[in-house]
Amino acid sequence: MLVGIITISDRASEGVYEDLGGPALRKASEGYGWTVHAEAIVPDDLERIQDTIRSFSSQGCGLILTTGGTGIAERDVTPEAIRGIMRVEIPGFGEVMRMKSLELTPNAILSRSLAAVVDRSLVIALPGKPQGAVECLSFVLGAIPHSVKLAQRVPTSC
Ligand code: MTE
Repeated sequence: MLVGIITISDRASEGVYEDLGGPALRKASEGYGWTVHAEAIVPDDLERIQDTIRSFSSQGCGLILTTGGTGIAERDVTPEAIRGIMRVEIPGFGEVMRMKSLELTPNAILSRSLAAVVDRSLVIALPGKPQGAVECLSFVLGAIPHSVKLAQRVPTSC
């Protein structure tokens, strides 16, 4: 499976601090046996986020992971960006990520993390904290292969 990873952060995109989320997701993805095909760091800008997701999708990334911008700060627009271009949202992903994360930190309730189908890709929006992003990915891992197949319109038995 080809994976695209997008770090969404004003400060990381300006080089104010090092991007740790992208590399953490790359390591986790490779650990799951996936191929990281494309990576980007973009600011918290609706159109830049949408353009990058669409570009990665057109490059054949069946799974696109984003990290950051899911919270409630003024510049957090990742959910709005994804909802602006998605075909369908898959609410169960966000529900599970928050439920499981709440067992680890009460602040998990602040994340508006979600998954959606955009073009032919499954897009999963993960929190910005590297450890939180990797944890959330692990909580929904079991549903990813089948969801990606459906997003890519590969015939399946259900
Ligand atoms: N989920 C997990 N599993 N672990 C975490 O550390 N951090 C929370 C939450 N979800 C966290 C988590 C915090 S502190 C915030 S503010 C929200 O994710 C949103 O983060 P973001 O705006 O960087 O995406």
